[in-house]
Amino acid sequence: MHVHRFERLWLVAALVLIVLFIGTVTYGAVGAGYGMVDATGGQVDPTAPTAGDNFREPGVYDGSERGRYDVYVEAKQFLFVPGTSEPIRVPDDSTVTFHVTSTDVVHGFEVVGTNVNTMAVPGQVATVTVEFDEPGTYGLVCNEYCGSGHHTMEGQLRVVPAESYNASGVN
Ligand code: CUA
Repeated sequence: MHVHRFERLWLVAALVLIVLFIGTVTYGAVGAGYGMVDATGGQVDPTAPTAGDNFREPGVYDGSERGRYDVYVEAKQFLFVPGTSEPIRVPDDSTVTFHVTSTDVVHGFEVVGTNVNTMAVPGQVATVTVEFDEPGTYGLVCNEYCGSGHHTMEGQLRVVPAESYNASGVN
């Protein structure tokens, strides 16, 4: 069968693109570690998320190791607890693991300017870890459409100098 030269060229180009696309998706899933929210973070009762063994009262917890902190965040229409009415406070030079769940519908939890960007799914706990070397202020945004107040759903994270961080203070 005779295939025209240009037709063959386009066939090859299309095949190369398909291989490239599959390659980027594979790299994202395996190399860069992007993934969907799954059940590894555990499950909680969405009507009473603090009742689960794997989800604590929302807030900041000093971790078992030095410089490690755990932040439990509830996302709900249309706020983050903590984060919206008062900022989440963590010290600098720390490794922070966020545990995020939702009490109503699917929300997003993004710490703008970091690699923290996850879905908050009712009944499931998303866990994301990030390092904060320098003090700074970060915005929190919901990036899943969650209702009429979606565009207002935001909060703040303050990374403060370790010297002025009072772990027993109100977060
Ligand atoms: Cu919560 Cu959009």
